[in-house]
Amino acid sequence: MVGALNLSCILIYLLINHFDLGLAQYSYNGAIDVADALGPKLAGHVFPDVSPDVQEQAARDVIKRVIGKKASESFEVEVNRLLDVRSFQISMLDSGKILIAGWDGTSVCKGFHQYLKYQLNKDVDWFKMTIELPVNQHLPNVSMSSTSASPIIYYQNVCTWGYSFAWWNFQQWRRNIDWMALMGISLTIAPIQEFIWQDIYTQLGLNLDEIEAHFAGPAFQPWQRMGNIRGWGGGSPNQGGGSEFRRLQYLLQQQIIQAQRELGISVALPAFAGHVPRALRRIFPQANFTETERWNRFPNAYCCDLFVEPQEPLFRQLATTFLRRVTQRYGSNHIFFCDPFNELEPPVSQADFMRSTAAAIYASMREVDPKAIWLLQGWMFVKNIFWTDELIEAFLTAVPQGNLLVLDLQSEQFPQYQRTKSYYGQPFVWCMLHNFGGTLGMLGSVELVNSGMDLARQMPNSSMVGAGITPEGIGQNYVMYSFALERGWSDRKLDSAGWFTHFALTRYGVQDERLNQAWQLLRTSVYTFHGLQKMRGKYTITRRPAINLSPFTWYNVTHVLEAWQLMLSARSIIPLDDNRYDIYQHDLVDITRQYLQITADQLYVNLNSSYRKRQLARFVYLGNKLLELLDDLERILGSGSNFLLGTWLEAAKLLAPTVEDQSNFEFNARNQITTWGPNGEILDYACKQWSGMISDYYRPRWARFLDDVTLALQSNQPFNASAYKQHVLKEIEKPFSKMNKQYPVRPSGDPWLISQVIFEKWSKYTKDTKYLHNNRLQLPYK
Ligand SMILES: *[C@@H]1O[C@H](CO)[C@@H](O)[C@H](O)[C@H]1NC(C)=O
Ligand SMILES: *[C@@H]1O[C@H](CO)[C@@H](O)[C@H](O)[C@H]1NC(C)=O
Ligand SMILES: *[C@@H]1O[C@H](CO)[C@@H](O)[C@H](O)[C@H]1NC(C)=O
Ligand SMILES: *[C@@H]1O[C@H](CO)[C@@H](O)[C@H](O)[C@H]1NC(C)=O
Ligand SMILES: *[C@@H]1O[C@H](CO)[C@@H](O)[C@H](O)[C@H]1NC(C)=O
Ligand SMILES: *[C@@H]1O[C@H](CO)[C@@H](O)[C@H](O)[C@H]1NC(C)=O
Repeated sequence: MVGALNLSCILIYLLINHFDLGLAQYSYNGAIDVADALGPKLAGHVFPDVSPDVQEQAARDVIKRVIGKKASESFEVEVNRLLDVRSFQISMLDSGKILIAGWDGTSVCKGFHQYLKYQLNKDVDWFKMTIELPVNQHLPNVSMSSTSASPIIYYQNVCTWGYSFAWWNFQQWRRNIDWMALMGISLTIAPIQEFIWQDIYTQLGLNLDEIEAHFAGPAFQPWQRMGNIRGWGGGSPNQGGGSEFRRLQYLLQQQIIQAQRELGISVALPAFAGHVPRALRRIFPQANFTETERWNRFPNAYCCDLFVEPQEPLFRQLATTFLRRVTQRYGSNHIFFCDPFNELEPPVSQADFMRSTAAAIYASMREVDPKAIWLLQGWMFVKNIFWTDELIEAFLTAVPQGNLLVLDLQSEQFPQYQRTKSYYGQPFVWCMLHNFGGTLGMLGSVELVNSGMDLARQMPNSSMVGAGITPEGIGQNYVMYSFALERGWSDRKLDSAGWFTHFALTRYGVQDERLNQAWQLLRTSVYTFHGLQKMRGKYTITRRPAINLSPFTWYNVTHVLEAWQLMLSARSIIPLDDNRYDIYQHDLVDITRQYLQITADQLYVNLNSSYRKRQLARFVYLGNKLLELLDDLERILGSGSNFLLGTWLEAAKLLAPTVEDQSNFEFNARNQITTWGPNGEILDYACKQWSGMISDYYRPRWARFLDDVTLALQSNQPFNASAYKQHVLKEIEKPFSKMNKQYPVRPSGDPWLISQVIFEKWSKYTKDTKYLHNNRLQLPYK
């Protein structure tokens, strides 16, 4: 629910710089012409372009970073605007080199990736962006071309900047941008804006204290930008580090944008959303401000900034000032985004009001950039009774056809394009919103993604012009992201079984039936989710213990166990070159984690029944098992380099501009993944199954709970849930944010050995008669 709120109503102005004359030839099976969908204005629009030379060099550099300088010399690249929009062509030159030609730099990289994956059987991953090719790599002579079925391939979510990117430096971004290019991403966002606002606020007459009280800390900026919170996690004005941090972030953002544009990737920039510091009332006493609604019970000190109605003259003034500076400082692809109604119901529920509000916002943008197109995140319409069809239509059609582009944010689960008749003709992007809060847990909807894009493209009068991914956090379930992006480019359904077979082959660099079977079992179990439950990564382990949890799973857990066993058995055949073994170890840690996560759910069901039946001995026995499981989970996570709390905390401290800021940055990092607010306002929303978190946060909570319930059973009293809650918040959850214990940034132990021991121990647990007593495998799954 929180994620829905976080994301609702993000308005993005957008001009897709890839849409030039070429687009007029674009049309889908019986669907309307994209140029029509985008309006006559765009059809003839030639966007400000990065020269083909620059894009070629950028693409060449990506290839060099991925396969190394020597190997990259076997590839020639060419950016050619005469090719079809968003297409690539691969051929062999007489010299024996492989020529990859593409419409833009990112299409070239996509072509290179296609060759790498399907000709050389090698693939990248977020955790593995370099590939070692054999010295005498045979380069197959292929002649192929491919055009993206969707001119826009979109990536990112405003929340990813909090949950995944918060502590990144440019090196980490470089890898991510390389990855984006290899996936053929053509559109993304760049939300960092605080440095620019600080200037504007200062010029308007706010003092530093007032400004600092508005800006949230580095882990919470996305929600302050959306007007959900203010000040939370921010620096103290006396420290002065805040302003230096904002300057450094601004420089980082410039660097990121430049690297993206050089590859031909368009970048959407923020526009004014209407949210301003409370202190602005002092400067503009006459203006009509509304106070933003309280969000998730945040206390007054950290909530409820002021909102300027879009029809107010002040809105226009701030919007145009801000947008001018944004474009001056970042350059422009004529793409801007903002989120005026995030978690804030519009004050009036009338079609006229919606129409004039949208028109006012659009007008202020147009005043700065006559070429601007407005992109709207359609999430605000999801399950929100405020937004009736009439209001949605009034809002969307207030902007001329083709000048508004909508991100259909979670198309695989809650698509809105049907209900809105393809957004009343405004173009839209089909997006997979797979992750909330950067939580871990294997999950995905392969078949819904596979067929969903076809349904949207083939809908009569479809205005779909793009496909993409909008995860709140990355770093998990890589297979889903790879699948969705490849599907987005493709004009037909992928053969998912075959695709997974190839995934297993390229991932481990070896053809093996066990590894293939393991991935097929995952495909048909964890990756077949198709329910309407809001999947938020809160599994029993990571939830605050209670007697009324209801864990559920949508698949046969035996399949995960079998996949795990198959993976374990393949150890000896994993090639040692090209760091294949690292990926194998990563997957072993992840699947072990997954099985323990499910087992904890099952243990919980039995614990719960023994509590209800007041079976003290059984309760104590199962409780000890659960603690043992948490210890095993801690051990396996500690052996995986991508599952360490230490990495997250050290990165946060490293980004602090001064030593004095370090403790606040660490506080931000710890608080976001636990209490998310001063008093557990969004408790465990961004929970992490990481080494360090299990031992020092989740396990202590469970241990205390088990003790309290045991005492209650012994004394024949009911368990006092509210006493427990108070205690755990005060003694475990809140203190965690303020600690400064250091955690390893290097894994310890051999993942395979640890996983094997855990497998032997826990795969047998269902044979234990104490579990069999009741509810074994009673989890509802279909
Ligand atoms: C590559 O294949 C094409 C088509 O089969 C052929 O014409 C060309 O000569 C080949 N090039 C090289 C360098 O072998
Ligand atoms: C202020 O804005 C609200 C809408 O949010 C409107 O109902 C009200 O009439 C406005 N007040 C003035 C004085 O303009
Ligand atoms: C598609 O658009 C055409 C032209 O605007 C319209 O006549 C037709 O009814 C639409 N079809 C559907 C199924 O909405
Ligand atoms: C746990 O017990 C409570 C009643 O005490 C019940 O409402 C809940 O559904 C049970 N949960 C499970 C997973 O059995
Ligand atoms: C779950 O999978 C196992 C192994 O494939 C199978 O034996 C079992 O019947 C399945 N359970 C259900 C309820 O389908
Ligand atoms: C539960 O604990 C709370 C807080 O410690 C206390 O106020 C309350 O009286 C307790 N309830 C029962 C039924 O004992």
